[in-house]
Amino acid sequence: MTEHLKIVVTDHVMHITMARPEKKNALTQAMYVAFGEALTRAESDPAVRAVLIDSEGDSFTAGNDIADFAAIATGARSRDEMRTHVFLEALARGTKPYVAAVNGLAVGVGVTMLMHCDVTYVAEDARLTTPFVNLAVVPEAASSWLIPARIGYARAFQLFAFGEPMDGKTAAAIGLVTAAFPAAEVRAKALAAAKALAAKPAGALQATKKLMRDSAAMLAVMAREGEVFGQRLRTAEAAEAFRAFAERRTPDFSKIQG
Ligand code: COA
Repeated sequence: MTEHLKIVVTDHVMHITMARPEKKNALTQAMYVAFGEALTRAESDPAVRAVLIDSEGDSFTAGNDIADFAAIATGARSRDEMRTHVFLEALARGTKPYVAAVNGLAVGVGVTMLMHCDVTYVAEDARLTTPFVNLAVVPEAASSWLIPARIGYARAFQLFAFGEPMDGKTAAAIGLVTAAFPAAEVRAKALAAAKALAAKPAGALQATKKLMRDSAAMLAVMAREGEVFGQRLRTAEAAEAFRAFAERRTPDFSKIQG
């Protein structure tokens, strides 16, 4: 259990809220485990017919807690202690409808988890960033496959390689997410969508989602990405990236051989 993830079931909707606003909802290992377990519980609980994911504070999430990455990069912790996969695998296996409400910043896994949500409503001024390369690692959550599949290789490469933010309006226009709304409306729209989905014939909805998503293929991509991600975390490039984050400076990769 962690106080940083709030989980409530009302009116057949499991409402999951990332609640670590003082750290921009950066995801800790405990949060990944709680998130993954909640999604797994949603899957088997007949009272849950839709899942709504949102956040407290001014950000959706700043992504993986950088301190965890840094601990692996410096050898202080083993990658085996990481529990990210509990969350990612639950996302890939999920068959109930997931709705996401994104306000403010969505960084890294904050964007890649959206590729596993079925309805993604974002604030027009939300900022979606996938800075994996900037951090000297690689995309995860099967996003190396799912994002190009959704928006094409050219735009996906732009997102991954430059790691620059994309606003919510653009993300909706190119089909990365479902729709963009004024920030104040996003949560209400997402809740309405979750309730509407909860009222649909659950069997037909789940069968449709299963037909549209190749769970086994996504798990295979996640396994491949995870292997490379783990290797990358132990590179000199990653050590420099995380040191620079901690020291609040721009990393200098110029003297490091790839
Ligand atoms: N992991 C751990 N802590 C994080 C974090 C993360 N991913 N993102 C933000 N925080 C923390 C900051 O260290 C800061 O903590 P402090 O107040 O104890 O110093 C607090 O959250 C607020 O963040 P701050 O950087 O002051 O806010 P900002 O508005 O200037 O910038 C971000 C917000 C998200 C742009 C910036 O924090 C950032 O780049 N974070 C890293 C995002 C990232 O690379 N995630 C990994 C993706 S794979």
